[in-house]
Amino acid sequence: MKKVLITGIFGEDGAFLAKRLLSQGFRVFGLARRGGSIKSDRLRYFGILDDVEIKNSEIIDFSSILKLLEEIKPDVIFNLAAQSFVQDSFINPWMTSNINYFGVLNLYEAIRFLKLDCKVYQASTSEMYGKTIDDVQTEKSPFNPQSPYGISKLAAHHLGVIYRETYKLKISNGILFNHESELRGREFVTRKITSQLVEVKNESRDFVLLGNLNAVRDWGYAADYVKAIEMMNFSEVNDDFVVATNNITSVREFFKKSAELLDFKPMFSGNNAEEICTDKKTNKVIMKIDKNYYRPLEVDYLRGDYSKINSTLGWKPETSVDEMIEKMVSFDLENYNKNIYFI
Ligand code: GDD
Repeated sequence: MKKVLITGIFGEDGAFLAKRLLSQGFRVFGLARRGGSIKSDRLRYFGILDDVEIKNSEIIDFSSILKLLEEIKPDVIFNLAAQSFVQDSFINPWMTSNINYFGVLNLYEAIRFLKLDCKVYQASTSEMYGKTIDDVQTEKSPFNPQSPYGISKLAAHHLGVIYRETYKLKISNGILFNHESELRGREFVTRKITSQLVEVKNESRDFVLLGNLNAVRDWGYAADYVKAIEMMNFSEVNDDFVVATNNITSVREFFKKSAELLDFKPMFSGNNAEEICTDKKTNKVIMKIDKNYYRPLEVDYLRGDYSKINSTLGWKPETSVDEMIEKMVSFDLENYNKNIYFI
C-alpha cells in the first residue's frame, strides 16, 4: 500500500485530498503541528479523522521533519503546509517566510539526507505573479510578488526548480490560482461573503464589511484543483503547472452573485471607500467598505492559462464560478447556526 504524507492536512485542500486518497486505498499520514488538531473540523466533517494517521511534527524544525520522514518513508508527499493568508503576511512576515520557505528547504534537505525516492508536490501560488502585466498568466509569465507571502512562496518555488535540476528530486510545483469551496476558511473573501450574507439574510448581522471590491481573481473550485495536484504527483512528469479556470470575476461581482442567490436585489452606489450595496427590495444597506481590509499592497488582477496541465496531464476545471458560489451559499444556508467553523 502506497504511503502518502500530507502536510497542511487540516486545511481545505488537505481535507479534500485526504478524502480522495483514502477512497483509493492509500495509507494517508498527516503532519500536524502541536495543538494543530483543534483544526481537525474538516476531516471530521468528511468522517475521515480516524482514517488518517496524524503525526506531530514541525516543518520549521529540521530534526523534527527528518525524524518524521525517516519513520514514515513516504512514497508521495504533498506539501500544503503554509501560512496562507496574504494579509497576515504583512503582520507576521518572519513566521510566513519561515513556514513557507524554510519549511520547504527543510523538507527537501531531509529527503536528500535520507535519500528518499519520493514524489513531492509543492503548493506554489498565483500570488507569485503579484502585479501582473499580461492579460493571462502562464508558467512563463514574470513574477512580481506584492507581499511577504508572495515572496516566500516564490522563493520556495525556485528552490523546487533548483533541487529538481541539481539533485534530481521529483518535485512538481503547482501554481494554483485562488480556489474556494464550502470548506474555505472565513477569513478569505469568498467564504466571508457567502457566510456573512447568510447572516444578514437571517438578521443576525447588519451588513458585510469588505475591502477592495475591484480586485479580480480567477476563482476555481477546490475539489477540482485537488484532482490536479493528485494528477501531478502520480505522474512520471516533474514540472511546474498552472491550475486555473481562465475565467475572471471581481470581488464586487462575487458579492452580487452571492446576494442574488439569497434573493437580495443588490444595488451598488458611491465610490471608493464610500461605496455601499443596498438591497433594492428593502432599502437596507447590506455591504459597506472598511478600509482596514485594504491591503498595504494589492494584487489587482489574476487570470490563469491552464493549457499546459491540460495538454500534459489531461486536467481541466469542471465547476464554474457560478456553480461554486451556489454550493457555498447553499452550504452556508443549510449550516447556519450549526457552529461549523472551518478554521
Ligand atoms: N480576505 C479578504 N477580506 N479579502 C478581501 C476583502 C476582505 O474583506 N475585501 C476585498 N478583498 C480582496 C483582497 O484585497 C484580495 O484582492 C481578494 O479580495 C482576495 O483575497 P483573499 O480571499 O484573502 O485571497 P488572496 O487572493 O489574497 O489569496 C488566496 O489565494 C492565493 C492564490 O492566488 C489565498 O488562498 C492564498 O493562500 C493563495 O496563494
